[in-house]
Amino acid sequence: MTIDVDERTLVLGIETSCDETAAALVMGGNDIVSSVVSSQVEIHADFGGVVPEIASRAHLEQLNPVIARAIVEAGVDESRIDAVACTTGPGLIGALLVGVSAAKALALAWDVPFVGVNHLEAHLYSAFLEDPTLEFPLMVLLVSGGHTMLVEMRDHGDYALVGRTIDDAAGEAFDKVARFLDLGYPGGPAIDRAALDGDPEAIRFPRALSDDPDNVDFSFSGLKTAVVNYVRKHPDAATADIAASFQAAVVDVLVTKARTAARRVGATGIVLGGGVAANSLLREEMLGACAADGIRGFLPSRAFCTDNAAMIASAGWHRLRSDGPTPLDTGAFPNLPLVS
Ligand code: KG4
Ligand code: ZN
Repeated sequence: MTIDVDERTLVLGIETSCDETAAALVMGGNDIVSSVVSSQVEIHADFGGVVPEIASRAHLEQLNPVIARAIVEAGVDESRIDAVACTTGPGLIGALLVGVSAAKALALAWDVPFVGVNHLEAHLYSAFLEDPTLEFPLMVLLVSGGHTMLVEMRDHGDYALVGRTIDDAAGEAFDKVARFLDLGYPGGPAIDRAALDGDPEAIRFPRALSDDPDNVDFSFSGLKTAVVNYVRKHPDAATADIAASFQAAVVDVLVTKARTAARRVGATGIVLGGGVAANSLLREEMLGACAADGIRGFLPSRAFCTDNAAMIASAGWHRLRSDGPTPLDTGAFPNLPLVS
């Protein structure tokens, strides 16, 4: 099935790869007509992390109402929808299967193309949702609970992996340290809040892999251990100071390495993506660094940094235009890489 893809093409995006059930209608790749996100954060909070089996079941219950709401909020008849795009990976397999099955069923019932979307590619597109005038090459710092990478975006669909974490993801470090400090779940926003009352220079935590100024890979597991060791030695230290100092260490390496990577490829700007891109200090420091280097700094609004379906519909529109529909016998891929 082929269709002309243009500014009027309306794509339904579906996202169920982790703990957000989301659906959105986006026209022409960046005009958000509706976007609905149902978060499972409260369901998983008691367990201190996402429980895959519970996530799949919650997606199953939430997905149809979420899709229905996205269509109602858009004020369009479902016959107006030109294609259905859905995350096929990476993510939790049971969670992915709920979205992929629903998307294929809708594409079949409505007789429109199905488009499989790489969740990481979609995060890259969240910036274009708000500013379609961004110019290539761009350096994207993608920092979420599962991923930490620097990606050179040379063109639509043309990416190079420039740097990555060799152990924990940045969001994972935030979540683990917050749990250790009893700040609750999810850890990123909790540390962000706690740090507001703390001194970021109170404790000098290590900046891993920073000896070599050309190294743009990341490592966060040593930092997490450093926090644990510090608290054991200094049980009376103020939690706010620990949170602020930890956050300063993470942000310092993220900004320094993103800057180095951007310079190396001659990027026109640095774009943030992924849940950790909601971090206040990271946003502030990244903008300052970009201004100092005379390049653009683009921060998607917080709602589009974390998982949402508008970015899936946007990436789906671009994929449909470049590659056409995805065959209906495609699967779901928990470890799908961004660049193979
Ligand atoms: O992209 P995302 O919604 O889900 C995936 O991992 O794909 O990212 C979630 C991660 C969590 O680790 C959460 O703690 C972190 O993003 N996060 C933050 C903030 N808000 C969310 N980390 C630091 N500061 C924040 N304000
Ligand atoms: Zn994500």
